[in-house]
Amino acid sequence: MAMKPVSSPTGDKGAFVRDMFARIAPRYDTANRVLTGGMDERWRKRAIALLSPPHGGHVLDLCCGTGDVVFHLLRTDPTLRVDGIDFCAPMLERARERAAKQSRGEAHFVEGDVMSLPFEDNTFDGATMGFSMRNVVSIDHVLRETLRVLRPGARFVNLDVSKAPNKLWKRAFDLYFYGVVPLVGGLVGGSKQAYTYLPNSLTHHPCAEDLRERFSRAGFTNAGFVRLMGGSIAIHYGTKP
Ligand SMILES: C[S@@+](CC[C@H](N)C(=O)[O-])C[C@H]1O[C@@H](n2cnc3c(N)ncnc32)[C@H](O)[C@@H]1O
Repeated sequence: MAMKPVSSPTGDKGAFVRDMFARIAPRYDTANRVLTGGMDERWRKRAIALLSPPHGGHVLDLCCGTGDVVFHLLRTDPTLRVDGIDFCAPMLERARERAAKQSRGEAHFVEGDVMSLPFEDNTFDGATMGFSMRNVVSIDHVLRETLRVLRPGARFVNLDVSKAPNKLWKRAFDLYFYGVVPLVGGLVGGSKQAYTYLPNSLTHHPCAEDLRERFSRAGFTNAGFVRLMGGSIAIHYGTKP
C-alpha cells in the first residue's frame, strides 16, 4: 500500500471525538442497530450501490469505525481490496476482531486522521464515509484530501444524518434524534454524554444542498445527493475529474 508520513492537524475537537468513540467502542454496533431499528444497514447498502467500484478495485473507507461499511463493501464484491482508516484505536481493534471472523475479501485497517490521509495521490478506485462527516474539524479539508487520494474517474460516497426539508418531519425527527437517542444511546451504548454530543453535531452541519456545493468547490464533478428517510439521512457523491 502506498503510504506517506502521518501528521495530524485535528487539534482539540479531534481529541474529544477520539476519546468519546473510545468509550463507546465496545457497544457501538449494538447501539447503532437498536437506535436505527436495523435500518442503518440498509442505508449503508444504498450508499455502496452508488459507489460501483471496478471489480478487483482498491477502496478507502474513511472513519471506518468498527468496519461496518468495509464489511458491506466486501460482502457486495469480495474481489475488492478495502482499507479502512480511523483515528480511534479501540474502534479499529473491534474492526480487526471482526475481520478475523470474516471469510470474504481483503480488509486492512489503518490508524490515522482523515484530515491528513497517509496515502499517496491517485491511490484509490473509490472512497466511502459513513456517519462521520459531522465529526471532522474541517469538511473542506477532508473533501480535498479524499479527492487527492482518488484516481481520476473514481467516486466518493458519503452517508450521514442530514436536515430534512419538510419542517413537520424535521421536527418529528429532531424529537427522536435530540430526545430519544441520548437516553437510549446512554443505556445501550454506555455513555449518555457521547449520545448527546452525536445528535448535537448535526446542528452546525451544512444542509444537503450546501454539502453538495462543498463537494463541487473541493473539485468533485457530478456532485449530487440522494435523500433517505424524508431527508433525515442523505448520501452525497462526487467524482474526481
Ligand atoms: C459514528 S462513527 C462511524 C463509524 C463507521 N463509519 C460506521 O458507519 O459505523 C465515527 C467514526 O469516525 C472516526 N473519526 C472521527 N473523526 C476522525 C478523524 N478526523 N480521522 C479519523 N477518524 C475519525 C471516529 O473515531 C469514529 O470511529
